[in-house]
Amino acid sequence: MGGSLVARIIGTGSYLPKRIMTNKEMEAYVDTTDEWIVTRTGIRQRHLSDETENTGDLGYVAAEAALHNAGISAVEIDYILVATTTPHSLVPNTSCYIQDKLGAVNAACLDLNAACSGFIYGLEVADALLKSDHIHHILVIGSEVLSKITDFTDRATCVLFGDGAGAAVLAKGDGIRGIVSGADGAKGACLNTRDFPVNNIVAEGSKEPQLIRMDGKEVYKFAVNILPEALKAAVSRGNGNLAQLDHIVPHQANIRIIEAASKRLDISMDKFHVNIQNTGNTSSASIAIALDELSRSGKLVNGQKLALVGFGGGLTYGAVYLEWNM
Ligand SMILES: CC(C)(COP(=O)(O)OP(=O)(O)OC[C@H]1O[C@@H](n2cnc3c(N)ncnc32)[C@H](O)[C@@H]1OP(=O)(O)O)[C@@H](O)C(=O)NCCC(=O)NCCS
Repeated sequence: MGGSLVARIIGTGSYLPKRIMTNKEMEAYVDTTDEWIVTRTGIRQRHLSDETENTGDLGYVAAEAALHNAGISAVEIDYILVATTTPHSLVPNTSCYIQDKLGAVNAACLDLNAACSGFIYGLEVADALLKSDHIHHILVIGSEVLSKITDFTDRATCVLFGDGAGAAVLAKGDGIRGIVSGADGAKGACLNTRDFPVNNIVAEGSKEPQLIRMDGKEVYKFAVNILPEALKAAVSRGNGNLAQLDHIVPHQANIRIIEAASKRLDISMDKFHVNIQNTGNTSSASIAIALDELSRSGKLVNGQKLALVGFGGGLTYGAVYLEWNM
């Protein structure tokens, strides 16, 4: 069995907040250095939302750009899927907020959370929805304001994350060939927002910081293994060939994870699109932002084969193999 052959990406967009925080500035918050951050992660700077910008605002700008790129209007969108770990609010969901700003009055609206794999999970859900006769266009958005849940006194996490949003418009057609996704919930504690208010009443009265906590080493071990495995599985499910991949757009969590995958898969680093130096880890937005950059760079042309691959909190993972057909 090959892939679904029912969905293709017809437009992409992205948005990074104006405010840039360099590693040098980070030195004022925690005991760290630019040199440590660059050598251990590849990150040189990240973008931070200001107090007027929330998840829906970032996602809206990315979505507008994707609609423009696709050449369709907001009223033609049948579904909006927003992948986020930092929802604008619980109710209404971020998707409804963006629907209103876009004027996408014909769209159903759903948020999903699979942490840094969220955009891949969103593509998988969109691919399935596009099999329905009445659904023709879907906006998949990854949007995050991680800085609003980051502990800026914890050097093990605060240097890693950034804010941003990316979006893609999907339509019926031949593009996506193979998708895999999965999770290992038993490792959920490695990366969590323990006692974050959405944990219902349990969090009440807690003295614990309601911010991201991470066992970086455990997540790293999971990532270096699952990135190549998920990528291989998606390409194989789509009857593709690793050697014929023109581009790989991985989740941008740590340059060392990407380099390890390049070695393990015996695929040159030149084929991996990397922007972590400018963005840090933007969780569910990261692959969407990187894909938009690659598409706008002119290096991605119709007929080329590419793979998108993500992993993250949950722990979750997913990969999509597709032929570019915009
Ligand atoms: C977080 C990560 C960069 C840490 O890198 P590492 O090489 O494993 O570093 P370690 O955790 O072993 O820490 C090494 C030392 O650096 C210190 N350190 C940690 N963060 C630091 C920072 N920002 N600046 C300076 N030193 C730091 C540690 O305290 C430790 O010091 P010690 O040896 O005195 O105990 C790495 O584990 C990683 O990228 N993990 C995956 C995380 C991830 O991708 N999460 C998101 C998933 S989507």
